[in-house]
Amino acid sequence: MERPERVPAESRNESRGQTWNPAGYACHARFVSDLGAPVVELLAPKSGERILDLGCGDGALTEKLVAMGCRVVGVDGSAAQVAAARERGLDARVADGQHLEFDGEFDAVFSNAALHWMRRPDDVLRGVHRALRPGGRFVGEFGGHGCVARIVAALAEGLERRGVDARAVDPWYFPTAEQYRAVLEAHGFAVRSVALIPRPTPLPGDIAGWLETFAGSFSGALPPAERPGFLEEVREALRPHLSDAQGRWTADYVRLRFAASRPASPVDINPRHP
Ligand code: BEZ
Repeated sequence: MERPERVPAESRNESRGQTWNPAGYACHARFVSDLGAPVVELLAPKSGERILDLGCGDGALTEKLVAMGCRVVGVDGSAAQVAAARERGLDARVADGQHLEFDGEFDAVFSNAALHWMRRPDDVLRGVHRALRPGGRFVGEFGGHGCVARIVAALAEGLERRGVDARAVDPWYFPTAEQYRAVLEAHGFAVRSVALIPRPTPLPGDIAGWLETFAGSFSGALPPAERPGFLEEVREALRPHLSDAQGRWTADYVRLRFAASRPASPVDINPRHP
């Protein structure tokens, strides 16, 4: 195949093409919140606590925290997801997790399956630290190093074949436990636990639904007419690795689960992460 002209990285917007459709999310990705119970357990919310749910999506877990007696504010970058969360009667607001503006008002910040969409962890952690009262907790889970590695490789190879540099459109941040511990500590958090958890995850349907829900940044790098062929090629590349003989698909998830807190008394913040 003739090599097409390479598209320069800087001409591409990393989040272009990723949109959130609450109905599609509920159909193809409900497992994301359904599998959130262990991180809620790690948070150990107490009735009456004021909690920020960072990246609340359609509010499925936010609602569980409210049912446990917490006073919860959910924030999400997607207006459509926030609208779906409000439909549940939740206090949900559109906000960029990399520009949080809360100040000392939460007992805990909770986050499930959202932090890997925020590629600037320093900006996230600065805002989370400020949002917490001294002694407040930051507990969460998101994609860790190696998460959906097969899927990323297939997407990247498909784009490379079309002359697109996938690194320029990859929207995800998947750190190792050591990297995330270091960045938490650099922002003044006391880290209680941080671990990578490989969690191959059976999908509710075809990988096409997962790609449609989550891989918009990659397919959005191509002209609309090329997208169906690209996604079909990615699906076929993944079939031998992620589908069984009965056609059941499993995504190669790795989670990073952590619990940290803002110390009750101030500590120095590492100047390498101002
Ligand atoms: C998730 O929702 O957990 C997820 C989404 C995209 C890539 C990896 C994980």
